[in-house]
Amino acid sequence: MKIMVIGGGGREHTLGWALSKSDEVRDFYFVPGNGGTLSLGHNINNLENEDIIRFAKEKKIDLTVVGPEKPLVQGIVDKFREEGLPIFGPMKDAAKLEGSKAFAKELMAAANVPTASFEIFDEFRAAKNYVENKREPFVVKADGLAGGKGCFVCRHAKEGLRALEVLMEERKFGDSGKTVVIEDCLGGEEVSVLALISNDRILPFLPSQDHKRANDNDRGPNTGGMGAYAPVVFIGKDELTEIIENIFLPAIKELGRRGIEYKGVLYAGLMISKSGPKVLEFNVRFGDPESQAILPLLEDDLLELLLRTNDYNLPGKINWDRGWAVAVVLASNGYPGKYKKGFEIDIKDNSCVLFHAGTRLSDGILYTAGGRVLSVVGLGEDLITAKKKAYKCISKVKFSDMYYRKDIADKGIKYLEKGRL
Ligand code: AMP
Ligand code: GLY
Repeated sequence: MKIMVIGGGGREHTLGWALSKSDEVRDFYFVPGNGGTLSLGHNINNLENEDIIRFAKEKKIDLTVVGPEKPLVQGIVDKFREEGLPIFGPMKDAAKLEGSKAFAKELMAAANVPTASFEIFDEFRAAKNYVENKREPFVVKADGLAGGKGCFVCRHAKEGLRALEVLMEERKFGDSGKTVVIEDCLGGEEVSVLALISNDRILPFLPSQDHKRANDNDRGPNTGGMGAYAPVVFIGKDELTEIIENIFLPAIKELGRRGIEYKGVLYAGLMISKSGPKVLEFNVRFGDPESQAILPLLEDDLLELLLRTNDYNLPGKINWDRGWAVAVVLASNGYPGKYKKGFEIDIKDNSCVLFHAGTRLSDGILYTAGGRVLSVVGLGEDLITAKKKAYKCISKVKFSDMYYRKDIADKGIKYLEKGRL
């Protein structure tokens, strides 16, 4: 089969790596890919919208897998389907779960899905008035896509006001900030649960935990994710079943009631609060860097799982390796703010599981080309061993301005030691 992966981050390299294990895969195209995906197939640059469809037809691509949210929210799946081209991912109306936080919150309220209490505003004055009288802390979120930067956890009204100005008046994220969601701030541990959805069949992946903040001990600004581990020790089989029944199922059924089908992978960002799991956000795609931790533990054939999702033929369960995976992101110093790129990357040894993100290969030399540069993955029979292996791999990678968190998976390790969070 000929496979095309849309995107060029760590998630897309990981998806390609996992898909390439299938005996069925013959040719691989990444649009645009990165320095790592070149070892799996071809990188195709400067392809957008209609060009991608033309390319898929020309090359007779058997399955296109979409990594990032933007093309999904813009309706790439609808366009492929109109042309009869096979593609994995939800259609535009379902991708609104990530494309509009107001839509997602209203849907959750209608379906009784546990989430933080919220109000929606499309008028600055009304939002300002609400924030001035709101119990602190609270969270202000842009309704639309903002590359993970449109969410402000506010300790007091002044911060809330500033967030409203940035989103609604200065329009830092354009129309994405025209409408805002203001919600209660939840406490607890964050967990990512991803599941394949095919009609009303829901097949969860191993739960994983991302580390969103830039610095150790969850300090510093929010990033796309600085590392992840899987499985999550404090989500057992029963908790996962509850999450499927109380969160995924009602959300999918509510979409169905509105005539919207969900087919693809759905990612629930959850806060495990004292009163149980609550949804922080829905994403309509694989997580990054969650995929780097989850997919290396997958025993089944990923390609077959994706094809079976499309065919309404999901298996009863997914088979996993019994071990653990820890993925540590190696970033450019300064990320998620300003950073330098174009530094040469030296990788001493190829024995590590290593996924590329912001890398570029030119004349056989690998260079940094983004904020998140690489993920190193440690696999082990226990979480401590997996963490040790991941950090040992880092000593084999060198580039100027390399920055990474030192505490990925520590929460899980502490939980295993103490038996509580
Ligand atoms: P989002 O853009 O909704 O994914 O939010 C980004 C990050 O902000 C989440 O991963 C959380 O760390 C934090 N966050 C979002 N909503 C809340 C909330 N209601 N309470 C506490 N933290 C939140
Ligand atoms: N790891 C966060 C995300 O994929 O949105």
